[in-house]
Amino acid sequence: MANSSNNDKMSQQGPAFDSNCMTLTRFVLQEQRKFKHATGDLSQLLNCIQTSIKAIASAVRKAGIAKLHGIAGDVNVQGEEQKKLDVLSNELFINMLKASYTTCLMVSEENENFIEVETEKQGKYIVTFDPLDGSSNIDCLVSIGSIFAIFRKQSKGAPTIADALQPGNKIVAAGYALYGSATAIVLSLGNGVNCFTYDPSIGEFILTEANMRVPEQGKIYSINEGYSSTWEQGVRDYVEAKKDPTKGTPYGARYVGSMVADVHRTIKYGGIFLYPATKSSPNGKLRLLYECNPMAYLITQAGGLASNGKINILDVVPTKIHERQPVFLGSKKDVEEVLSYLNK
Ligand code: AHM
Ligand code: MG
Repeated sequence: MANSSNNDKMSQQGPAFDSNCMTLTRFVLQEQRKFKHATGDLSQLLNCIQTSIKAIASAVRKAGIAKLHGIAGDVNVQGEEQKKLDVLSNELFINMLKASYTTCLMVSEENENFIEVETEKQGKYIVTFDPLDGSSNIDCLVSIGSIFAIFRKQSKGAPTIADALQPGNKIVAAGYALYGSATAIVLSLGNGVNCFTYDPSIGEFILTEANMRVPEQGKIYSINEGYSSTWEQGVRDYVEAKKDPTKGTPYGARYVGSMVADVHRTIKYGGIFLYPATKSSPNGKLRLLYECNPMAYLITQAGGLASNGKINILDVVPTKIHERQPVFLGSKKDVEEVLSYLNK
């Protein structure tokens, strides 16, 4: 009886509404208050990133209708064809970040050189980003994402390339947006990892998962197995072992081909994501500054591990802005296991 009267109430009033919900903006402001000398710049910067992500999400959702699918005509610095949505997303990130008055230098996957902000708009932060990752998945409506990392400027005077070439262990904050069955932002300000899901009815990201933790061990391996003939022996042996019933319960294979989706699943369910060196990409495919580093930071903040096969990803000192690194990240035990194969 109690249930039916509750249901009656629900149908009359609609579902419960949280009048005190934790939005992303509110969360960032709250975190900022924990630092005595905080100026509010980081909050302002994150707000501008949030605006870019809302605009990109909206464009992604109506890409077909707005005719944003397809090739834009330009070729980016990696020699790949840029899609219209890539171009739009890049412009949104750059324009919003410049307008935040908090950044002096940016590195984007889509721009060959670093982008210096006009002197009068400069602030103390450096932002590296991939505005729309997983571009090969755009046209078939599979999940895609945006990835970013934020650093503090180290040099005095005008920003230099050295400010952009900081190792991941200097990251101040990093995150990604996943344009999947829902839109979510996963963010770390150096104090754990939190997930905020977009509520289109109020236009806000709401905290839906606080303090995300990567399970210590998973049951999934995630790698593009089509390249197996060109992997180093250790990677081949590890992947074979994950399928061999005489070596334990075989793992499931999952590979979206969008790093954000593959990493999000790895944080949620555990397991391992690998993009090792291949014949055509001897340093792996993924870029250190705006793909490997932010993801390694988030995975580490969530209790997992991220390595390039030799050292922790976050300890790699970049030598150029579009540098690539092999990457092995996910559940601590799974990454330790692959490392034991690589170092045999
Ligand atoms: P992109 O920056 O051109 O979109 O490429 C990066 C993507 C990642 O999201 C994904 O992990 C990887 O490329 C997939 O590459 P592959 O198709 O070689 O497996
Ligand atoms: Mg990318």
